[in-house]
Amino acid sequence: MKTGYLLAFSIASSLSLQAIPTDNELRKMVLDNGIEAFPKSQKELAALAEKSAPESKNNKSTPAKIELGKKLYFDPRLSASNLISCNTCHNLALGGVDLVPVAIGHKWAANHEHLNSPTVYNSVFNEVQFYDGRAAHLSEQAQGPMENQIEMASSRAEVERRINSIPAYVAEFKKSYGADTKVSFELIADTIGVFERTLVTPSPFDDYMNGSNSALDSKQKEGLVLFIETGCATCHGGVNLGGSMQPFNIAREYKYTSLGGFKGDKDGRVKTPTLRNIAQTPPYFHNGAIWKLTDAVKEMASVQLGIELDDVQADKITAFLHSLTGRKPKIEYPQLPDSTDETPTPTFD
Ligand code: HEC
Ligand code: HEC
Repeated sequence: MKTGYLLAFSIASSLSLQAIPTDNELRKMVLDNGIEAFPKSQKELAALAEKSAPESKNNKSTPAKIELGKKLYFDPRLSASNLISCNTCHNLALGGVDLVPVAIGHKWAANHEHLNSPTVYNSVFNEVQFYDGRAAHLSEQAQGPMENQIEMASSRAEVERRINSIPAYVAEFKKSYGADTKVSFELIADTIGVFERTLVTPSPFDDYMNGSNSALDSKQKEGLVLFIETGCATCHGGVNLGGSMQPFNIAREYKYTSLGGFKGDKDGRVKTPTLRNIAQTPPYFHNGAIWKLTDAVKEMASVQLGIELDDVQADKITAFLHSLTGRKPKIEYPQLPDSTDETPTPTFD
């Protein structure tokens, strides 16, 4: 990566003089710089998602598990209050986020590091989960919020009690995993993870890379060239244009560093967010301090690469980023099985 951003410094001055390459040249340039597109066919894309989830080895996706995982994803009874589901903060109708700067959970508590909810769309392709990369995959990740006192504020025992008190849920687990299945907290989280693997969103950028020259307009193509030549792809690469741990505050300190006090992992690195659907997921940065995408682009160039982009350059890169807004899977809002007399009632303390 080091050579990548050193190179970026040296070409920064010639940025606006670059001629636009042909489509084939541009596609080659994208691939040469480590950005990958989603495969064209839905089937191949689903297979790629399955392969990208290391936990899928022990828990293969099936239609029954996906449907059950979807119900759990939308079920607010996984929270102490019966009010908060995964979808509250990762709203699938809003690009997989909540559109507020800081995540708001149990009893309206704000995340104590002022962390912004990242999108769940395409999160299966992240190398690590969470801003400090502390979870390796989605199944492990999904356990966190249920137990987190400022998110859903439940406990493993309580979540197990609630789901096991609902016979229709138990029956669905048995149908999905076999008759002698015990519904554990881990299995509940794993099953939500299986559903999350389906949240993948092919975009006009992928169409372009798969051969459709008109999927991007000329401004977006110029923006894509700038994105690469400025050095953005050194971190925002791979199939998710992000997803790995990277150093932060490289050339300059992020303007809103003091808000929330988040410092990254032990080496000060931060998980690079995916740029897929980025136009739909303001506000930006780990603490949600920047609302306009062009401002986020300028701040990134300055903080990470020591480059001050002008308005025209930032505008072009932003136009390219809009081409990463993907087509969402059709999700039918599920009917959730009824609670019973045995189901614990909500608590608000
Ligand atoms: C109160 C709001 C809230 C709720 C409820 C919530 N999340 Fe999150 N989620 C967040 C925040 C904030 C983060 C980032 C936290 C961090 O990095 O430490 C996050 C991170 C994630 C990530 C990692 C994504 C990435 O790019 O790193 C995934 C996946 C995720 N949540 C899925 C879920 C699932 C599944 C549920 C339900 C079991 C859930 N979340 C419930 C706010 C929430
Ligand atoms: C050295 C690695 C690196 C480089 C180079 C880099 N980024 Fe980032 N990018 C990151 C990291 C890490 C974050 C998360 C920062 C945070 O949340 O505080 C991020 C965050 C972002 C965000 C906000 C994402 C969100 O969901 O809030 C955008 C937009 C972005 N980058 C675009 C760019 C653009 C455009 C460029 C080139 C001008 C660029 N980045 C260069 C690593 C990098």
